[in-house]
Amino acid sequence: MGKSCFPRCRLARIMGWLQILLGGLVIIVSISSLFKFYSAGFLLHNEDICRHFYSVKDVYVGFDVKALSDRVREVLDKLESLQEKLESKVQQMEKNKDVLDRSHITGIEYKKYLEDEVIRPLYSAHIALRQIRLPKLEGIGNSTMKEDPLINTFVVEEIRKYITPKDNRISKINIYGTEGIHNTIGHACVLYKKELEQYMDYDIGSYCDDDWNLAQKLMLNGCDPLPRRRCLTRASKVYQKPYPSNESLWRLPDGRNVRWSNYQCRNFECLSSKHPKRGYSKCTGCFEMEKEKLKWVTNSSLPVDFLISDVLAIKPAVIRIGLDFGIGTGTFAARMREQNVTIISTALNLGAPFNEMIALRGLIPLYVTLNQRLPFFDNTMDLIHSTGFMDGWIDLQLMDFILYDWDRILRPGGLLWIDRFFCNRKDLDDYMYMFLQFRYKKHKWVLSPKSKDEVYLSALLEKPPRAI
Ligand SMILES: *[C@@H]1O[C@H](CO)[C@@H](O)[C@H](O)[C@H]1NC(C)=O
Ligand SMILES: *[C@@H]1O[C@H](CO)[C@@H](O)[C@H](O)[C@H]1NC(C)=O
Ligand SMILES: *[C@@H]1O[C@H](CO)[C@@H](O)[C@H](O)[C@H]1NC(C)=O
Ligand SMILES: *[C@@H]1O[C@H](CO)[C@@H](O)[C@H](O)[C@H]1NC(C)=O
Repeated sequence: MGKSCFPRCRLARIMGWLQILLGGLVIIVSISSLFKFYSAGFLLHNEDICRHFYSVKDVYVGFDVKALSDRVREVLDKLESLQEKLESKVQQMEKNKDVLDRSHITGIEYKKYLEDEVIRPLYSAHIALRQIRLPKLEGIGNSTMKEDPLINTFVVEEIRKYITPKDNRISKINIYGTEGIHNTIGHACVLYKKELEQYMDYDIGSYCDDDWNLAQKLMLNGCDPLPRRRCLTRASKVYQKPYPSNESLWRLPDGRNVRWSNYQCRNFECLSSKHPKRGYSKCTGCFEMEKEKLKWVTNSSLPVDFLISDVLAIKPAVIRIGLDFGIGTGTFAARMREQNVTIISTALNLGAPFNEMIALRGLIPLYVTLNQRLPFFDNTMDLIHSTGFMDGWIDLQLMDFILYDWDRILRPGGLLWIDRFFCNRKDLDDYMYMFLQFRYKKHKWVLSPKSKDEVYLSALLEKPPRAI
């Protein structure tokens, strides 16, 4: 390098120093965010580490969140001012074009160099830093621990992003009147960490894996709601438009509209009672429309089978909306639709595509598990019909939680239709107490033997007004 390179060399040296400085800053920031991430575990003593897993508060003992967030903010500010300086330098060079033109490297080249090699990386580093979510020291509720305690339990970034509270921009209050949106997952997700991290390990914006059954397993184990939101769900490659509404209600849907890869069957015809092992044993025959057509509209041999017409006659014209809580293909909702009653049917895809089936019939499936509080407001439903799911296996306390939730959403004067509940004869008293504890008005109450040891119970009960 001779003397002639003087301006160029100086500039190159400046650039070199800048790059080293920037690199240093990026490293500092990465280290401090790593520090934030691991510090909870590192700073604690052995016994503290145990407590760390069981107690929320201890995660932050010995960890100065404020100092860290101050430091990172400082780095952010520095980066920002550096960027401004560089940009104004480029503008200055633009103005003094002629001076630079005389050197070996043209001003245009310097400018391009600065823009491509300095400003752009700096800008993306800046954005990346801004996206790091630091625990907020001030926030809703005014408690000492502001960050969601679950965040540091997970390693997969997408889970951490999901459960980090999202503050509204520029401290505004949103349409719900809150300062931010809090996404939640159930505490059971911590027990299913491995499965959840597998489920959440995906490329944002790409196609989701066809792993709804993993999702359903998580939900059934209490990890609910699920945090995966940012991939595109797959659909059947040969999806046909559904049958028109004057046909769809009672016609077996087109199997091409379902992704069958996680089932033993490959079409709806296969799900008939001829192959009970391939579908869901509790609902054999649910996919046979001829059998389904008989339900709730024809007299059966059992007194526990009430007719829809008889039930609706008890409350003419005021049963308009309701919930069918059970296992089935939506036939109850279909029959009720013919009576101008809108019914939402709960459905899980246990061994068969119940949700798709109900939707393809033109009815509304609600994908919820037993452990979920129902997504309806208090005193809103005219009717709850329950069949075929919580028979005598159910824990009494769980049943209590469920029944109270039904009571909550049922409106005063609404009907609870227990349809063919069955249990062991010796357990009958317990279950009867469960149903009767709410002191509903009894419109119908019928017991009938199922087998030597088992009995059926059907009941039609009315929620009383609660003038309190
Ligand atoms: C939190 O509450 C205490 C007393 O209840 C109050 O003194 C303090 O200013 C509050 N802090 C914030 C950030 O609102
Ligand atoms: C359903 O409606 C379409 C016209 O909207 C008609 O062509 C078809 O025959 C109807 N199907 C039945 C089963 O009534
Ligand atoms: C069912 O049986 C009752 C009496 O046994 C009769 O009055 C009613 O019409 C029957 N309903 C149907 C739909 O067959
Ligand atoms: C349902 O509503 C339609 C249109 O309002 C009416 O024609 C029909 O009679 C109603 N059906 C019943 C069972 O009320």
